Amino acid sequence: MDFSLSDKEQKLWERAKAFTLEHITPRAHELEKRDEFPKDVVQKAFETGLMNLHIPTEAGGPGLTLLDETFVSEATGYGCAGMATSIMCNNLAFAPLVIGATIEQLKTYVEPLVTGKEAKFGAFCLTERKAGSDAGAVATRAIRDGDEYVITGTKCFITNAPQASLYTVFASTQPELKTKGLSVFMVPKSKAVKIGLIEKKLGQKNSVQSEVTFEDARVPKDCLVGKEGDGFKIAMKTLDKTRAGIAAIATGLAQRCVDEAARFANIRHQFGKPVGQFQGISFMLADMGARTAAARQMTRYAAWMADRDMPNSKDSAFAKFFAADAAMQNALDCVQIMGGYGYINEYPAEKLMRDAKLLQIYEGTNQIQRLVSGNIILRESANIDTGFHVKYDGKDSPMF
Ligand code: CAA
Repeated sequence: MDFSLSDKEQKLWERAKAFTLEHITPRAHELEKRDEFPKDVVQKAFETGLMNLHIPTEAGGPGLTLLDETFVSEATGYGCAGMATSIMCNNLAFAPLVIGATIEQLKTYVEPLVTGKEAKFGAFCLTERKAGSDAGAVATRAIRDGDEYVITGTKCFITNAPQASLYTVFASTQPELKTKGLSVFMVPKSKAVKIGLIEKKLGQKNSVQSEVTFEDARVPKDCLVGKEGDGFKIAMKTLDKTRAGIAAIATGLAQRCVDEAARFANIRHQFGKPVGQFQGISFMLADMGARTAAARQMTRYAAWMADRDMPNSKDSAFAKFFAADAAMQNALDCVQIMGGYGYINEYPAEKLMRDAKLLQIYEGTNQIQRLVSGNIILRESANIDTGFHVKYDGKDSPMF
């Protein structure tokens, strides 16, 4: 096995880290007080070539891998998870199109958004007030009318919705078929697309989530991605990929907690020596570092599998919940190690803690990730021979 990065990967990783140190970390605290979209930072990320990485070259993108995306997500997540979410959200918005659309559709609808001088945005519109974890319960309707579809419904918690020029909308074409009646459409911004409530959040204030309502939004029939009824499977395949991206942001945040806490533990003296020299602190740092290292490997493995078209639902769910839990625990520990300084908002730790919480919630809660991976483990067990042949359901079993 070779864990080293290729020259190209190393260069991307270094570029994303340098960008973070120059443009993200120094401004993250100041900008989050404004509680708005960090437009100029995202524009710089676009100009630096850190956005839209997975768009194929035929449609104007750099055609990079999911593994490449994890380098950028980890590096930017180290600086600010909110800004990383703003920068990387196009990956989520356009992934269903890369999975299900034709090259002609990508050239018509996506290429104009990823080329040119200004950053443009897409928004992934799946979640609704009554369809969160139960993604198949979408109530938004798409009704065919001649050569058009008419889309009606309201989505919520949609990242980058106010900034978006193109909405990737999951809508039901046949509600009676439930998940099999869901379809996915590209909906360009128009007067029929109305931005609603912009949410005020605990953390990740450098990313924007809002309601978006489609009021009889008419789109040509070529805005349907794949076939009618393909929507749910495209959504699931998308999330199998993008959950590795969230795991990478989480890994970045987890690493930042290690670095901030260790730096503090070396500088802060109590009882005549640096607090890091007390085992109570150094053991915490060791656990934080180990969690981060494990999260990084799980994340890269899940992405590596996706890049080879290997089924990765279990591994991307593992990576997402493990890395998000690692980020949350590391942020709590970072606050604890920094004591009073950890709780005061001019120091880094309390923002890390607020930002980490969302990683356990968005792109499928960590409970959903456990449900997905637990179910796969149960299914896989049907083909596993442990070598211990005993009946668990009969009188001859020694266990009953
Ligand atoms: N790939 C391909 N097909 C899949 C699949 C996958 N990973 N997972 C399921 N399917 C297929 C199943 O095989 C099944 O097909 P058949 O009927 O042909 O057998 C069909 O899809 C239905 O599957 P399930 O019965 O498992 O579906 P379910 O209704 O029980 O729900 C779920 C499954 C995993 C809980 C799903 O609803 C889910 O992932 N929920 C979480 C939603 C989510 O992550 N939302 C996040 C929104 S995005 C966001 O937060 C981002 C942001 O703004 C930053």
